[in-house]
Amino acid sequence: MGKWRKAVLSGVMAASVLAVPLSVYEAPIAAKAATQALDNKVVQKIDAEKIYQHVSALSVGIGERVTGSEAERKAVDYIAAQYRSYGLDVNIQPFTFQTYEEAKEISIQIAGHSGKGLEPSVFKYSPNTPAEGATGEIMDAGLGRASDFAGKDAAGKIALIERGGITFAEKAANAAAAGAKAVLIYNNTTGPLKSSLPSSGNYVATLGLTKTEGEALKALIEKEQTVTATVKVLGGGMVTKTSHNVVAVKKAHKNHDTGQILYVGSHHDSVPGSPGASDNASGVAVNLEIARVLSSQQTDTEVRFLTFGAEEIGLLGSYHYVSTLTKEEIDRSIGMFNFDMVGSKNAGDMIMFTVDGERNVVTNTGASASSRVFKPLTYGKVGRSDHQPFHEGGIAAAVFSYAPLEPEYHQPTDTIDKISKEKMENMAKVVGAGVYQIARKDTPALERAQVAPKPAEPPFEERPL
Ligand code: BES
Ligand code: ZN
Repeated sequence: MGKWRKAVLSGVMAASVLAVPLSVYEAPIAAKAATQALDNKVVQKIDAEKIYQHVSALSVGIGERVTGSEAERKAVDYIAAQYRSYGLDVNIQPFTFQTYEEAKEISIQIAGHSGKGLEPSVFKYSPNTPAEGATGEIMDAGLGRASDFAGKDAAGKIALIERGGITFAEKAANAAAAGAKAVLIYNNTTGPLKSSLPSSGNYVATLGLTKTEGEALKALIEKEQTVTATVKVLGGGMVTKTSHNVVAVKKAHKNHDTGQILYVGSHHDSVPGSPGASDNASGVAVNLEIARVLSSQQTDTEVRFLTFGAEEIGLLGSYHYVSTLTKEEIDRSIGMFNFDMVGSKNAGDMIMFTVDGERNVVTNTGASASSRVFKPLTYGKVGRSDHQPFHEGGIAAAVFSYAPLEPEYHQPTDTIDKISKEKMENMAKVVGAGVYQIARKDTPALERAQVAPKPAEPPFEERPL
């Protein structure tokens, strides 16, 4: 606790430390009415149509927003423009990351068999071949075990390996160690073979073939004895790309400043192949609407509205943002409210998750606000989203979501027709009231947050994805 903590928060922490009893704290009736009037300053202004419009702009107008893509950048510009229109101080924060770019040219040319028509796929993290390709004799290397190479001369050859027995990485490593120039792994079942090597290690160009293609090559070797091929894998490899966070600040009233900082965050990127309506256009949309409504209210706490890039590839945007906070800022930080997947008709009930499964000032405030403006909320244990870097940085944080997760999670079917205006509206009201409860200038000093009940069963972290 420190000199920055407000009375209301001391109350919350006292409640959670003493923890007797965990039942609802009953405020006097007059205080309750006053609190409701204050909640209404936010709750009655939440506009579900505006939230839905943001989901439409992001998930239909822009569509999938893959980390580092043009579309992600368009989402950033859209979000920044919205925050600016509310009068907030907006900053776009770039950061770089490394990602694997798939090879642009992949081919296998069999000498004397120009019309062969192989359709290889390239393994993720496969090294490239030289520009002219890797030319060598194809050798049947069985399952690619070390014993399959023992006593054979694989140097400069192209190893043809069947799927099965050991891992792809072991097969590729054994072939490379034996001196092969390239590796062709063929399937032992129907369909194409497309997989991944480890992101680092000693490998050579590695491609996947169908069972039919692999068996045909094997038969050709048996028939012709010497079969020479040129394998090309060109243009693949690690590249540096840029993603962005959006940072929109609502400063505290200059004469009523507790010095504290509160964060409201959501990620704006989506996975490849999905328009990310629920994950996470919905979270950004609710974040924007709370920012719009709060921007016309006086607050004694600085509120930073954030949207993060690169969440889907490892929470990179939020890790980057937290890394830019000074120790002094972290000491002034009270809590972080994160939204992730807050709008699917096909998901379950509203819930809060913390990284360690313990309640904190954010879940307590959420529990208190939800029981006033919606219905009492429980909490569970989940990381997997942008509250995690804040938690690790020492800032109380929770993600607000609906669980169990919808079946469209990370699918092309995560589209706007599955979005519930009501779910987003309820979320905006609950968290809007909670954020305002902490940040408003006239917080009643004696108000105490209701403690979120912890469910008897571990709630949703064990649900199937
Ligand atoms: N929205 C999901 C995670 C999530 C699940 C949040 C349940 C709240 C409740 C998020 O975008 C995601 O997919 N995260 C990744 C992990 C991340 C570290 C790459 C995941 O869960 O696989
Ligand atoms: Zn998400």
